[in-house]
Amino acid sequence: MTATATRTVGTTPITNSKLQSWVDEVAALTEPDAVRWCDGSEAEWNELADTLVRAGTLVRLNDRAKPNSFYARTDPEDVARVEDRTFICSASPDDAGPTNNWMDPAEMKATMTELFRGSMHGRTMYVVPFCMGSPDAAQPMYGVEITDSAYVVMSMKIMTRMGTPILDAMIDSGADFVPCLHSVGAPLEPGETDVPWPCSDTKYISHFPEERAIWSYGSGYGGNSLLGKKCYALRIASAVARDEGWLAEHMLILKLTSPEGRIYHVAAAFPSACGKTNLALINPTIPGWKAETLGDDIAWMRFGADGRLWAVNPEYGFFGVAPGTGWDTNPNAMRAMEKGNSLFTNVALTDHGDVWWEGATTTKPGHLTDWKGRSWTPGKGPDGVDPQPGQRIEPAAHPNSRFCTPIKQTPTLAPEYNSPNGVPIDAILFGGRRKDTVPLVTQSRDWAHGVFFGATLSSETTAAATGKVGVVRRDPMAMLPFIGYHVGDYLEHWLQVGRDHDQAKLPRIFYVNWFRRADDGGFLWPGFGENSRVLKWIAERIDGRADADETPIGSVPAAGSLDVSGLSVGPEDLAAASAVDPEEWRAELPLIEEWFDRIGDKLPADLRTELDNLRNRLG
Ligand code: GDP
Ligand code: PGA
Ligand code: MN
Ligand code: MN
Repeated sequence: MTATATRTVGTTPITNSKLQSWVDEVAALTEPDAVRWCDGSEAEWNELADTLVRAGTLVRLNDRAKPNSFYARTDPEDVARVEDRTFICSASPDDAGPTNNWMDPAEMKATMTELFRGSMHGRTMYVVPFCMGSPDAAQPMYGVEITDSAYVVMSMKIMTRMGTPILDAMIDSGADFVPCLHSVGAPLEPGETDVPWPCSDTKYISHFPEERAIWSYGSGYGGNSLLGKKCYALRIASAVARDEGWLAEHMLILKLTSPEGRIYHVAAAFPSACGKTNLALINPTIPGWKAETLGDDIAWMRFGADGRLWAVNPEYGFFGVAPGTGWDTNPNAMRAMEKGNSLFTNVALTDHGDVWWEGATTTKPGHLTDWKGRSWTPGKGPDGVDPQPGQRIEPAAHPNSRFCTPIKQTPTLAPEYNSPNGVPIDAILFGGRRKDTVPLVTQSRDWAHGVFFGATLSSETTAAATGKVGVVRRDPMAMLPFIGYHVGDYLEHWLQVGRDHDQAKLPRIFYVNWFRRADDGGFLWPGFGENSRVLKWIAERIDGRADADETPIGSVPAAGSLDVSGLSVGPEDLAAASAVDPEEWRAELPLIEEWFDRIGDKLPADLRTELDNLRNRLG
């Protein structure tokens, strides 16, 4: 079948010849049954939802519980980002560096072209025009995703500004776009019946940073298939940001207002499944403090004419970790979801057509259908089989199950969320999941020391990516899987930003850890809403009001300077959560050393100096 023989639905008159010829070229290669230009309308959403319900991909939820919302179960092998199948295809391997998988761009294109050949047989090829950030931005960042997954189209409607208005704005302004090509890699030959979650054992998530293009094959999971998110807004955008002198980061954006009415904006980078969405939607427990949400995963930060660093959230929705998100921990996320218009993936289904996951409510429903479609009862697990003594009951929801919800539904949404210029950032937080060593909060001495915090950030791996969970790894600025170029060049870029700008106007940098544990394995710090106490200390540090103690690793709250009034944590646990143990930090030095050696020749000299200084201070 040729492109001209392909049925086209919803044709938009196109004067952008690059777009039209790319769409024709992809249709000729992938040979779909139909090509559909997505307009982003309500009618289109309804039609796609009906199609996916009929195909068994989606279950419509009970309208009284979650209006206009749907539930999807993926193939059990397609549940997370595949970092080992993610490639940065720069012309030179030296531009991808030691932390990325690299393949020659021509070789990757040759390999993937054969995979894409006929890959959309029996399917519709959707063309999704989108914009990351506001189309009113000084430099609007357009993309067009071609995909053969209606689930991806529905998710893109939640996660991005997309559809006809975006296409019109793009064409009217003559702006360029990032071509994003996606196929689930499951062609249907005549007579072949589809499965609810088509995907392929062969997966490639490939980026061409010089050309600014993305090719993704074989997975329908959001992190691998919603190409505006990790692939564009982090991997491609980080390479653009390096060239243009700005920062594209894995950060939430939060607006804080003190009881006196002083406003602070905070950006925070934590690795996947380490607390960004929760902090972005925090309900402060301390009286008088107000928190408002701007973004929960990605921040694009550019310097304004005032010399300050301004951040925008390029996304339009949340793709949040479900387990652990509950009325007690994150009521604002629960309220946003209750308004509906959401997709839920790999959570559990209740008998009343609602969704549930571990931590959603404190009392478990009496019966569920688990994320693999099995009958599930509390205390027993799947299929009602009594667990063997000492056997762990399988959770009903996959640990990386997700909710996908429009940001507009957030009860705590900051009015500036849609501002093309964003907000000026006062503080940057780096944080990870460490059961030991890293204290509750530490302030850096200056920008370069803060970059050292980010460069040496470490965290236990989570279910957000395939592979082992709970292994400590270095995750620079929480960007390890998302830097679109060489990690050494990336860290040098961060340092250069500091050299090029007025230190007094740069954000202050802090290192936080909500996840330190007691000997019994429990968390020492209660976290969630109580993290507002740490935010308060940070705000007071910015204003030079809170006291700090100097330690070898940085400044930590002086006795009495962290507001713990009304906090139900014993003084011993509090001390243990905040402790700087020189012994633990000396044990950390060879691990940092090893990490810096892995970065190789491109490790910035200033970071080597920071490490030497830390070693000297530890004695
Ligand atoms: P994100 O992937 O970085 O956005 O992380 P989330 O905010 O979705 O949180 C990931 C997991 O960590 C969820 O299970 C949360 O319940 C849990 N979590 C988030 N914040 C805290 C915290 O302050 N303390 C503890 N103990 N767990 C947290
Ligand atoms: P997360 O986003 O950071 O909220 O987990 C998805 C991801 O990073 O895979
Ligand atoms: Mn993320
Ligand atoms: Mn998140």
